[in-house]
Amino acid sequence: MVSVIFPAAGQGRRMGLGFNKIFTELAGKPILIQTLLTFSRCDCIDELVIAVDVNEMDIIKKVLGRMPGLKPYKIVAGGSERQYSVYNGLMAVSPEADIVLVHDAARPLISERVIQNVVDEVMLSGSAVCAVPVKDTTAVIDEMGFIEKVPDRDKLWAIQTPQGFRKEILAQAHQKAQEDDFLGTDEASIVRRTGRSVKLVMGDYDNIKITTPTDLFMAEMLFSHKAAKHVKIKMSSLISDILGKMQK
Ligand code: CTP
Ligand code: MG
Repeated sequence: MVSVIFPAAGQGRRMGLGFNKIFTELAGKPILIQTLLTFSRCDCIDELVIAVDVNEMDIIKKVLGRMPGLKPYKIVAGGSERQYSVYNGLMAVSPEADIVLVHDAARPLISERVIQNVVDEVMLSGSAVCAVPVKDTTAVIDEMGFIEKVPDRDKLWAIQTPQGFRKEILAQAHQKAQEDDFLGTDEASIVRRTGRSVKLVMGDYDNIKITTPTDLFMAEMLFSHKAAKHVKIKMSSLISDILGKMQK
């Protein structure tokens, strides 16, 4: 059985809206709902566990209650940090779950294909974290803002969610993080501290986390492009006209 934990208990400070960004409308529905519906369309997913701010629990219960098409779900209280929200979710997953995925509620552009790939890889390797090769050159800088070194881009991947694990692996990692008072940025970082290796699977450049208002504009465009299925990308007519004349 596969359960998915959705940390959704943030404040969305960088979004600057004055309310939790997961309530923002995207293609006609709240971001949280778009995320949950995509997972609900996957045959490989059995259960959704959503970690929410205690003050938002009632409204979220009402919204989900009105939404057809969701897989069986549980709502739990989130914590003061993302990691604690995930931990609370982990405590609530069904005892029958043998695989647990964690996915940011704020990544509504996740595809069913990537979810399936993550689940398949967890079955093989015990862990699977989706990621994409970094496109920009990245730099490590010193305290004065000067470039110290430029890591080899071929070895750099940007890590996304979903991140999936056999349940006992994730439970052990959370237990150790708690014992050591360690706060990681994601599940891969706390699992790696237990000495286990974590396998990357190809994610999707579209699978952005809605963090700032710009991301929301991007997400709206990506959603409508997906709905249109085949968007034709063509050369600028200015360039093709000039090229045509040059070839004559
Ligand atoms: N999250 C959570 N519990 C927290 C903090 C974050 O469940 N204490 C969730 C968010 O709701 C989000 C995901 O973790 O779905 C990724 O976090 P992030 O993008 O940082 O969201 P926020 O913390 O809401 O945004 P910000 O950091 O800008 O305040
Ligand atoms: Mg945050």
